[in-house]
Amino acid sequence: MKYDLCVIGLGYIGLPTASIFATRGKKVFGVDVQKNVVDTINKGKIHIVEPDLDVLVRAAVQSGNLVAGLDPVPADTFIIAVPTPFKVTAENPRTPDLAYVETAARKIAPHVRAGNLVVLESTSPVGTTEKVREWILDEWKSLASGSASATNSARLSEDWIAKVQFAYCPERVLPGQILHELVSNDRIAGGLTPEAATAASDLYKCFCNSEIFLTNAATAEMAKLTENSFRDVNIAFANELSIICDRLKINVWELIRLANRHPRVKILQPGPGVGGHCIAVDPWFIVDSAPKEARLIRTAREVNDSKPHYVVHKIQDRAERFKSPVIACLGLAFKADIDDLRESPSVEIVHDLATKKIGKLLVVEPYVKKLPAALASFENLQLTDLPGALAAADIVVVLVNHREFSRVDRKLLSEKIVIDTRGIWS
Ligand SMILES: NC(=O)c1ccc[n+]([C@@H]2O[C@H](COP(=O)([O-])OP(=O)(O)OC[C@H]3O[C@@H](n4cnc5c(N)ncnc54)[C@H](O)[C@@H]3O)[C@@H](O)[C@H]2O)c1
Repeated sequence: MKYDLCVIGLGYIGLPTASIFATRGKKVFGVDVQKNVVDTINKGKIHIVEPDLDVLVRAAVQSGNLVAGLDPVPADTFIIAVPTPFKVTAENPRTPDLAYVETAARKIAPHVRAGNLVVLESTSPVGTTEKVREWILDEWKSLASGSASATNSARLSEDWIAKVQFAYCPERVLPGQILHELVSNDRIAGGLTPEAATAASDLYKCFCNSEIFLTNAATAEMAKLTENSFRDVNIAFANELSIICDRLKINVWELIRLANRHPRVKILQPGPGVGGHCIAVDPWFIVDSAPKEARLIRTAREVNDSKPHYVVHKIQDRAERFKSPVIACLGLAFKADIDDLRESPSVEIVHDLATKKIGKLLVVEPYVKKLPAALASFENLQLTDLPGALAAADIVVVLVNHREFSRVDRKLLSEKIVIDTRGIWS
């Protein structure tokens, strides 16, 4: 089988992308290092929660256009959509961790040919697309040195690598709305060369109904980081306001509602912190690249990272009024109506409360069936349903604005202490 596309990483980004290409007629081979992910997809099923993705994946697999496997295969285009977290190093506790991208690049290297297009979609520090090119060239060199094959020797020539196009195309989709936003969001195609940008733009035209803007790879990489840093800085402003308002005994939700009636003011909503593996992570990539210059971006991260501790203190303060407080913690996901708990401030808050043994904790998270590993071993904590938690609790803490929570009958809360970090009941 000759494949049009080989997509590396079949998570929240790679799987919808691979499936949408497949349903638009492309022959797609999806690769993931997790066997259970590969097996699930090959059965036409999904391993993540995302509206309508099950229908899309089933259609893609049943058409024969989407096949998953553990190792890359030759294709015209390679798309890399693997994680880009940060790691702790002696110099910087938040150093961008490009190990997944490097592994993916080195694994596709034996299959990359002159004329191919390699697209990086993972959110990455400036310069990573160039590194992908270097890792592939480096891999070619070691392949050529250990082999008498003419193809491998040919790959050593600058001519060959010059004929491979490399582009960075950031993904801007919102979990929960991925399938809609994949086709309707404007895109950026940043090439290491103008030809690469054009090739990437031509590729995404297959399903993208919106505009695709061409630029160089570094600008495209920085654009993605800038978008998430912009959000982080604005959320930090709202979070700081919420703390100031607590001190001044002002209702922050009303304050923001009123301030936003100004024609040029649009303040975001505060929350218990910032989670997910995008907004809470990506600004650090800018700080890592320009530590002296990125002062506001760093401070915003610090403000948002400190918000969960502030919420814990607030709960602790209210809990002191009870001998054996029962605390309902509503939500663990990092945002509303999804199952994603990564970098979630709600998990951090519940973990902190459990560690400090601040009462009995009844955790409600309608999108998960069992507690995450970080919370599973605490004896003073249990996952339960919403009616049970509300009936038993002295203190009700809203950590996530899931739709189900906003529909709660307020009469059930009249005798309780309510700490609503999302403003759904304000
Ligand atoms: N999730 C989002 O909303 C979102 C939005 C925009 C950008 N991004 C970025 O997209 C990238 C991917 O994010 P995600 O949410 O899809 O992550 P994810 O963890 O859901 O999926 C990544 C997948 O890659 C697999 N993987 C890891 N190393 C691999 C390798 N060497 N070969 C093959 N598979 C490998 C993992 O097993 C996993 O299934 C990240 O850089 C992220 O920052 C994510």
